[in-house]
Amino acid sequence: MNHPSVVWQSSKINREDRCVLNQHPSFVLWFTGLSGAGKSTLAYELERKLHEMHIRSFVLDGDNLRHGINSNLGFSREERRENIRRAGEISKLFVEAGIATLASFISPFREDREGVRARFAPREFIEVYVECPIEECARRDPKGHYKRAKEGTMKNFTGVDSDYEPPLSPEIVLRTDEQTVDQCCEAIVLYLSASGLIPRKKVSALWD
Ligand code: ADX
Repeated sequence: MNHPSVVWQSSKINREDRCVLNQHPSFVLWFTGLSGAGKSTLAYELERKLHEMHIRSFVLDGDNLRHGINSNLGFSREERRENIRRAGEISKLFVEAGIATLASFISPFREDREGVRARFAPREFIEVYVECPIEECARRDPKGHYKRAKEGTMKNFTGVDSDYEPPLSPEIVLRTDEQTVDQCCEAIVLYLSASGLIPRKKVSALWD
């Protein structure tokens, strides 16, 4: 709820001005999936590739935000809701600033992801389902979380004793147990290029 005495302040330059300067539109790629599915790996590799293509990009990562702005939040239903709401609002600011924003959060609940989607115009929010069977995520277990969750020393762990609701109609689906990191990034770049979100001449600079 907005406080009645809080008045919106407008900038003298708008998002379009910033995008003209950057020579590309801004948008948010929202990576969702289980812990260990590969969201952050893909987001950081894509960020590097976009940078090489002269596209201003930035990763907002769940683990990193939880070190700072979200450090007061845990993993209950309500806290995850607030975590994703804040992540969505920060993404909104980055998109307003003209940045290709890569948001990497488990974001396990459909309702929360749809809440973020609703803050954006239809084509500027791109949901990327980073799909990987939980058995494979648990086998990778890069942080040792699945082991702790199964032992019962970590509670409310997504996929073990807390739900993950897969997207019903994501813009992009990746299978990280079947596709390499490069193949996944290429699929995203092709989607962005076909949607006019990254200029074709910037794509050809990378792949040709
Ligand atoms: S979300 O569910 O609220 O979207 P977020 O992406 O910010 O989660 O943070 C997930 C990260 O927090 C995981 O990569 C993992 O390192 C850590 N983590 C700690 N406890 C949990 C838990 N109970 N469930 C899931 N992730 C957890």
